Amino acid sequence: MRKKLLLGNWKMNKTPSEAKQFALLSKDMVDNAVANNIDLGVAPTYVCLQTVKENATKNLIVAAQNVHAADHGAYTGEISIPMLKEIGIDWVILGHSERRTYDNETSEKCNAKIKALLANDMIPVYCCGESLETFEAGKTASFVEEQIRKGFEGLTPEQAAKVVVAYEPIWAIGTGKNATKEIAEETIASIRAVLRDMFGKVAEEIRILYGGSVKPNNIAEYMSEPDIDGALVGGASLELASYQALIENLR
Ligand code: 13P
Repeated sequence: MRKKLLLGNWKMNKTPSEAKQFALLSKDMVDNAVANNIDLGVAPTYVCLQTVKENATKNLIVAAQNVHAADHGAYTGEISIPMLKEIGIDWVILGHSERRTYDNETSEKCNAKIKALLANDMIPVYCCGESLETFEAGKTASFVEEQIRKGFEGLTPEQAAKVVVAYEPIWAIGTGKNATKEIAEETIASIRAVLRDMFGKVAEEIRILYGGSVKPNNIAEYMSEPDIDGALVGGASLELASYQALIENLR
């Protein structure tokens, strides 16, 4: 039985003091949800990671939004795995469509990062998803299959089981045009079929999230689908009341 997971991707929002406020006020809410067997997390910007980690309950997963595959070196502007580990961060989002679009993040780069994270006992959240053009051309399944095959390339089944996948159609991100639960389920089931082909029965253990305009009023629809294990949420994860409403409707 896969455990439900709600992850808030804060993107480039919240200053450290705003992030600290959220962390302090979220404690009871998070502890209650975790007691109900739901995993909850947020992904703040790098400069907010430590303050959220220190001021939230230890039950809150705190994820970075990116990492470099190398341990150290001449990579101006980058952050390494040992840096994250030292401040207690062990989850990292990779391959978000915004990073693929604006920062030349490729599935091959993500594959190197996934391997480096797993070697450090950390959990990658690997994002995939197609553009509107690809969706309208009916090529979603093959496009996403390629992202999954490249991202998971060379992993053992035991390693693959530890990765979380997030399917986020680009046309649904921040647009208010969320994919229907049927579309999300169809693509997520196709992702699981690719993982089954690559890794066998551990594919049943891999958590796959839907993301793209998930709101308190539509999250329950996704959770009713057999292959959808939770949500990666942008805008609706920023305010405590809305995050709380997401949790309530996720159960
Ligand atoms: P929105 O929930 O704001 O559409 O963002 C989705 C997303 O990109 C999460 O990573």
